[in-house]
Amino acid sequence: MSHFYSPAVFVLVFFGAWCLCAADVGDFAPCLQFFYMSWPPKGLAGTLICQRYINQYRFATLYSRPRRSPLFSAYLYTAPAGKRPLASWKYEPQLAYPGADGNMITFPPGPVDQNVVDSQAVEMDYTHSTYSRGHLNPSLHHQSHEDRSATFTLTNVVPQKEGSNEGPWKALEQIVNKTLVAYCLGRAYVVTGIIPYQTEEHWLKNHRVAVPEYLWSAYCCPNYNNSLPKELKDTFPTYAAAIGRNDPNSTEEIVPVNKTAKILFRGYDVRQMPLETLEMYLKDRFSTVVSVFYEQCSGSD
Ligand SMILES: *[C@@H]1O[C@H](CO)[C@@H](O)[C@H](O)[C@H]1NC(C)=O
Ligand SMILES: *[C@@H]1O[C@H](CO)[C@@H](O)[C@H](O)[C@H]1NC(C)=O
Ligand SMILES: *[C@@H]1O[C@H](CO)[C@@H](O)[C@H](O)[C@H]1NC(C)=O
Ligand SMILES: *[C@@H]1O[C@H](CO)[C@@H](O)[C@H](O)[C@H]1NC(C)=O
Repeated sequence: MSHFYSPAVFVLVFFGAWCLCAADVGDFAPCLQFFYMSWPPKGLAGTLICQRYINQYRFATLYSRPRRSPLFSAYLYTAPAGKRPLASWKYEPQLAYPGADGNMITFPPGPVDQNVVDSQAVEMDYTHSTYSRGHLNPSLHHQSHEDRSATFTLTNVVPQKEGSNEGPWKALEQIVNKTLVAYCLGRAYVVTGIIPYQTEEHWLKNHRVAVPEYLWSAYCCPNYNNSLPKELKDTFPTYAAAIGRNDPNSTEEIVPVNKTAKILFRGYDVRQMPLETLEMYLKDRFSTVVSVFYEQCSGSD
């Protein structure tokens, strides 16, 4: 049984809802602009991080301390310009020291402070691993250099197989990029998260960072161009509700496998689906109702 099902978590959420003083829970109030209608997804519990870089909020993350990885990241899509920045990986000092300034900090070249190591994933967790660092909020979906750099915090990263990260999941990020650039006229809110294994948790080698079985993503673009081509008819205002495999050994009920895909990418398929279908799978796995967007992104902006 994972911590998601623990009644204590729900008590904490309920308590946290009216008492934002709960020290560990954090607060999305300073970064509600990254959520459609200022309404963060409902149903998942964790530590709330307003991701701050060079004194500006860049996106929001629901972080799981026991997993040392995020449950979802939420951000505003902006059409990218320029190249992916050279990554300097960062951590969140406030997870290690509650009173700390919330700006993310680049890992030092030498040893890392033990409180930081205890409170979150560090670069060592991912080195010599069979998993790559998978961005939930990808650098590709941002315009400014600073917004792109800010995605390189390990609190925005999950262990993701190269076959997914460099294959179908990357293709999805590019499809979303192209679709939103072409047809989204106003803001596009994106939420990207993970689905944990149902029974046996998988971990990175030293048992510190939990591996997700699937990644999911959905966008909400309330103000869009109505003259959509036929193949995009059902993709607005909300879609690319998508689930991507992160394990070729997973069963095929949620995402079937394309047996003729290139061997490198085989078993890492992404299936696009309506938001309702995605929420059904989330409810199934988290054993609680999960709502990604306010009124399923049906209203106006
Ligand atoms: C993302 O969209 C921008 C703007 O249309 C385009 O220039 C860029 O090539 C796209 N990037 C990828 C990787 O699809
Ligand atoms: C909407 O899309 C159509 C067809 O692709 C295009 O001709 C038109 O200029 C677009 N309108 C806006 C406001 O972008
Ligand atoms: C899939 O199963 C095989 C055989 O049990 C195992 O060797 C392999 O590590 C598994 N792959 C993953 C990604 O867990
Ligand atoms: C399966 O993968 C092959 C090779 O990439 C591709 O040509 C084909 O369209 C895919 N089939 C489906 C159903 O996605």
